[in-house]
Amino acid sequence: MNILDKFHHWRRRRRWNKQYRSGRWKSLKSDLEASRYFKIKQDLEAFAPKNPSILDIGCGDGVLNERLGDFEFSYFLGVDFSSESIKQAQGKNLPKSEFEHCDVLHFVPEQTFDAIIFNESFYYIPDTEKSRVLQLLLDHLSPEGVLIVSIFRDGPGCWEYFKEHPNLKELDHETITTSKEMTYWKIGAYKCSR
Ligand SMILES: C[S@@+](CC[C@H](N)C(=O)[O-])C[C@H]1O[C@@H](n2cnc3c(N)ncnc32)[C@H](O)[C@@H]1O
Repeated sequence: MNILDKFHHWRRRRRWNKQYRSGRWKSLKSDLEASRYFKIKQDLEAFAPKNPSILDIGCGDGVLNERLGDFEFSYFLGVDFSSESIKQAQGKNLPKSEFEHCDVLHFVPEQTFDAIIFNESFYYIPDTEKSRVLQLLLDHLSPEGVLIVSIFRDGPGCWEYFKEHPNLKELDHETITTSKEMTYWKIGAYKCSR
């Protein structure tokens, strides 16, 4: 990253912390957002091995974990570069789950995972880092594992990283619409071959 990218990245992290502190992201728990978490849960049920280990990149305060409800997993690791969101997630004491304060740009998983999820976080990775970060995480996806990506609206400059990746095969790609105009998400599920 050049110095300008580094500055924007630092500023973005400060903004996320401030927003989590002020409660701005409580909206993620609203009914309007519920359908995208539900679709991720459905993709896990359809494509992940039974009782998977899950890595949630940019997990915020752990809403996805809470929304998984009765879905059974062996381990859940949420990673986020906002210390405030991680503090809130840790405070929930969610079973079989850990939350780590770490920038995905510097995150190196200590194990493989059966499901790796970018739930509304991939577009925040600086363009110069997207390929490297994605590849490093794919190197930690188990052979039977699934990559799930949720992106708000059309995600310009994002989907090509998945759709054109030589080792990724698309299993599903769906647009989740809502009653609110211009509020929709695209959610893709991928297998990785090596
Ligand atoms: C729109 S929120 C989504 C939160 C959560 N995934 C959800 O949908 O409930 C985006 C999250 O990505 C996190 N994030 C952005 N850039 C990040 C980075 N470089 N490393 C780790 N987390 C990051 C933010 O702190 C924020 O919590």
